[in-house]
Amino acid sequence: MSRKILIAGNWKMNGLLADGAALAKEVAVEVKKLGKPECEFLVCPPFTLLTTVKKALRGSKVALGAQDCHIAEKGAHTGDISPLMLKDCGCSYVILGHSERRADHHESSALVRQKAEAAYKAGLKAVICIGETEAERDAGKTIEVCSAQIKESVPDSATAANTVIAYEPVWAIGTGKTPTTDDVEEVHAAIRKVIAKKLGKGNANKMRILYGGSMKPANAAGLLALPNVDGGLIGGASLKASDFMAIAASVCKK
Ligand code: 13P
Repeated sequence: MSRKILIAGNWKMNGLLADGAALAKEVAVEVKKLGKPECEFLVCPPFTLLTTVKKALRGSKVALGAQDCHIAEKGAHTGDISPLMLKDCGCSYVILGHSERRADHHESSALVRQKAEAAYKAGLKAVICIGETEAERDAGKTIEVCSAQIKESVPDSATAANTVIAYEPVWAIGTGKTPTTDDVEEVHAAIRKVIAKKLGKGNANKMRILYGGSMKPANAAGLLALPNVDGGLIGGASLKASDFMAIAASVCKK
């Protein structure tokens, strides 16, 4: 079953207008040089850069995504951004349930699921993040935790077309540490099994499961070559076009 590799950058809370435009332009130029790459590309800047980055990406095949959304289309929710607004800005994706939001904003899996449903309604695809903490891993609970997060965070209406899963071990994010490739493959295969049970084999075979957590040019080829790894959700290394593209180069042939 062939799944198109997705190389996604999560810029997190980084970048002012000029930086964002420059980074997006560089990525767009480099992706264009690949001609018809065997990968899809996505960048997810902070809300304040969405319009600027959209302009910088004009004419390129790089998709635009946001890093969160509210469950409502509009209304009295000070400081929040609706999925409809994201669609209006040119987004096609939204990252949901990132561990930093689960931790910093106490987002539950139930809320993430509602956000995903709202995203679909607005015509957005959801990148739903899951992953265990270091304590959970040490307690041997990685697969149990990830399975529960999938069951609770992914809506029943999710399909391979509207949803991407990102497995991001919390202890690997921004630390330079990564699980072994055997461990990553084991968790991704387990996630796919849970998806098959929940959404059927057809969706499970087609749904992309990205790995995220300290993915760098030096370790990307090994991670992205794994049978159940269908791309990367890249934080720190997505802030430098040369690193982001070096990661892509390990799988996206010209
Ligand atoms: P780093 O690549 O900086 O570890 O971040 C990963 C991540 O959280 C992407 O969503």
